[in-house]
Amino acid sequence: MVKETQAGERRVALAPEGVQKLTALGYAVMTEPGAGLRADISDEEYAAAGADPTGERLENADLVVSVQPLRVDQIRRLRRGAATVSFLPIAQSLEQVRDLRDCAVTAFALELVPRISRAQSMDALSSQALVGGYRCAIVAAGMLRRFFPLNMTAAGTVPPAEVVVLGAGVAGLQAIATARRLGAVVKAYDVRAAAAEEIRSVGAQAIDLELDTLEGAGGYAREMTEERAELQRERLSPHIAAADALITTAAVPGRTAPLLVTRGMVEQMRPGSVVVDLAAESGGNVEGSVAGDVVRVGAAQVWGGANVPSQMPGPASRLLSTNIVNLVTLMTSSADADDEAGVFAPDFDDEVVAGSCVVHDGVVRHEPTQRLLESED
Ligand code: NAI
Repeated sequence: MVKETQAGERRVALAPEGVQKLTALGYAVMTEPGAGLRADISDEEYAAAGADPTGERLENADLVVSVQPLRVDQIRRLRRGAATVSFLPIAQSLEQVRDLRDCAVTAFALELVPRISRAQSMDALSSQALVGGYRCAIVAAGMLRRFFPLNMTAAGTVPPAEVVVLGAGVAGLQAIATARRLGAVVKAYDVRAAAAEEIRSVGAQAIDLELDTLEGAGGYAREMTEERAELQRERLSPHIAAADALITTAAVPGRTAPLLVTRGMVEQMRPGSVVVDLAAESGGNVEGSVAGDVVRVGAAQVWGGANVPSQMPGPASRLLSTNIVNLVTLMTSSADADDEAGVFAPDFDDEVVAGSCVVHDGVVRHEPTQRLLESED
């Protein structure tokens, strides 16, 4: 396991518990010195779990796990036939994908793990979205200079804050649940048909805009037409104007984030209102939000998320580590009767293995990536 070097990345791919599991499977785990420090995990903890925390020795590795994709100089040190498991955001990682292909390294992308029941324990998108959604609610509560809960005191009654959440997938539902636990009154909207019930199940009111639902493949949302988007914004406006805090988490797979809230809509919010845009890095749900920064729009403060799970690096790493270890376990042939160590031997007939593989044996197997490479070459 390597130490992450991308700016702002505090997570690490394996927690000590993950090292223990891989060691029990028969792997000799090596962690780069200081790899976990930014997630508050010391080399001593890795050593106690069975790892050798003295180096990464990429040249010898059969498998390298990381949060972010390896750098090109790291990929070039790997031997042919070695494998990597990491997030691999294709559009931003084409250089690495070319190198992985040319160096005959096998690469698995955590984003591509099929979202089927059997693979839920390997679903890193969900585990990290959960952390992101929680963090968004906490950020909103921290920035809002008033109470989230109702307070009835001898000095008078303080009404609860009103929070609106847009996008009620994994992150949005967690943001709702967290804001509710803090006592806010929460309303939420999502375009998927199943969302209204899910929103109510975590204690919020589902906003009904009297618009058609938008279901795409695999239960995800579809992209809106501009006409639909305009109508949605118009009907959401009064709800946003009345909110003390707005949290946006909407995404459409493979697309930039939908623009749900214009600058004009934020300008209608009351002085002191806060907006938290979890989608700021992928295009932004809120016009004018800046990833990694707080900007003022009208009388509101707008917070743009940048690698939000990394803001809670310990728990985010532990959840991610479990996802990665479960995926690696699936790709490990079990130890035989003589108690020999399991070996990393992905079975490409398994739909989880095949679905999450980007490159294998010098061939780009993920078709959208292949098309993107061809259009660039
Ligand atoms: P996501 O991160 O792609 O999107 C977040 C949310 O934004 C979604 O709920 C989407 O409907 C919503 N959205 C998109 N466009 C919108 C718009 N214009 N206005 C308002 N909301 C908009 O989605 P996430 O959180 O990864 O998962 C969403 C779906 O995937 C759900 O159906 C969930 O149940 C399913 N899922 C299935 C899993 C499994 O089977 N293993 C695991 C996790 C999620």
